[in-house]
Amino acid sequence: MANDEVHGGTVQCKDARDLIYVTRGGAGRVLSLGGLQRMGWALRRAPDARQVMKLLQSRPGHPYAALLDLREGFSEHDLAEFGDALSAGNIGWVAGVDAGQLSDEPVRRLIRDYCYDYVTLPCPEGVLNTVIGHAHGMARLGSGRVDRVSSAGSDDMIGDSPAMQALNRTLRKAALTEAPVFIAGETGTGKELAAMAVHRHSHRHAHPFVAINCGAIPHELVQSELFGYERGAFTGAQQRKLGRFEMANGGTLFLDEIGDLPLESQASLLRFLQQGSFERLGGHEQIRVDVRIISATHHDLEHAVDEGRFRADLYHRLCVLRLQQPPLRDRGADIDKLADHALKRYSDEGQHALKGFAPCARQALHSHPWPGNVRELINRVRQAVVMAEGRLITAEDLHIDGPASRPPPTLEDIRDAATRCAIEQALQRNRGRLIDTARELAISRVTLYRLMGRHGLRESESDGNDRSVRIF
Ligand SMILES: Nc1ncnc2c1ncn2[C@@H]1O[C@H](COP(=O)(O)OP(=O)(O)OP(=O)(O)O)[C@@H](O)[C@H]1O
Ligand SMILES: [Mg+2]
Repeated sequence: MANDEVHGGTVQCKDARDLIYVTRGGAGRVLSLGGLQRMGWALRRAPDARQVMKLLQSRPGHPYAALLDLREGFSEHDLAEFGDALSAGNIGWVAGVDAGQLSDEPVRRLIRDYCYDYVTLPCPEGVLNTVIGHAHGMARLGSGRVDRVSSAGSDDMIGDSPAMQALNRTLRKAALTEAPVFIAGETGTGKELAAMAVHRHSHRHAHPFVAINCGAIPHELVQSELFGYERGAFTGAQQRKLGRFEMANGGTLFLDEIGDLPLESQASLLRFLQQGSFERLGGHEQIRVDVRIISATHHDLEHAVDEGRFRADLYHRLCVLRLQQPPLRDRGADIDKLADHALKRYSDEGQHALKGFAPCARQALHSHPWPGNVRELINRVRQAVVMAEGRLITAEDLHIDGPASRPPPTLEDIRDAATRCAIEQALQRNRGRLIDTARELAISRVTLYRLMGRHGLRESESDGNDRSVRIF
């Protein structure tokens, strides 16, 4: 890209950019586009899909902008023939229409599913230059994407957004130490992958990585799963069984959903972290193992400590180094890379070959809030691979409503969310004490109380004289 400049989302090349003008219009309906040529566009005309494909085949992978002049001459059947050309990843399509055509459903569908934008023709060449410039820029980005996906990274953790770069840096530093690591983050953000990466980069990598999901094991069995038992320790204990601590000797023990660890096991874990040893159930011998602990949860562990469900002393022992997994919605272009990766991985499961994502799907991927994060993204793409009927996955195949049906947040929405977040965090820091929280936020206690009511941060109405509240 050394020869390029970026202006407001349009990659502007000092070399000529290629524009395909697809038209069947008769005299008077064909745009001359001489101005665009003077602006640096190398113009080629194509009357049909066959010509477009020929152009593409002559320079595989080369990016083009294409203006599809729909004003006359294309039947629905003709348009269907454009399937391959419209699906080609290295063309940025712009539709040119008469204003009246926008109520025509096949035209609307074609624009929505395959085009970066549309213009009503005729329009000033300056406008066309901007719009096709954007489409060309997107085509160029699209043609580079494939390579980056194939070099997915040694940890199978796809993504190089600033948030993921920061995580990777912290993760590698953590791997060089022996300190316990705590990984926080919403469900499906890749906490387990991160734990494995810490292990893989540590000097323990040749030893076992043992994971246990503390939330998936019945409470009465957690202790024996973790620490093992001696023969005869309880009815049915016919022989000695090693626990996960011993299995992980020399390596790493990953305690997933640590917030669900019963209090009894919390005490045993704390003892292990203090002494480096434990007893098997029914045994008296102190067993010493060399294990590094990584823990994770998608719950708010600080909240569990405040509520007395999790021991504060254990919390401080586990959270020596803290990794925060960024939510998928904060990872920008990583969303595309993850989607491409999932498509590649599951493409065999579909009935026919898929070429990628339609522009409407790309837009939907970026407008969806992803409450289930990477796991949800992978599942949606996998399902879309099976369900898609066209050559490109559409927003509909992903079962995501387009941005049109969900209005973007207003300034008031954004302000409300920021206010709620600031109050919540200040309350946490001040352990729910209203006077201290109000002082920190430089507002009166009455104002704080009113805002808490407005943002659903207090349980019930009272006179505002409480000295503290339960944060929920
Ligand atoms: N950066 C990534 N690159 C590729 N795949 C990822 C990435 N992050 C997560 N995944 C995949 O997403 C799925 C969920 O990841 P993982 O189980 O590590 O999430 P989690 O945070 O532990 O979720 P939970 O809180 O529900 O246990 C897995 O299939 C994982 O391989
Ligand atoms: Mg997990």
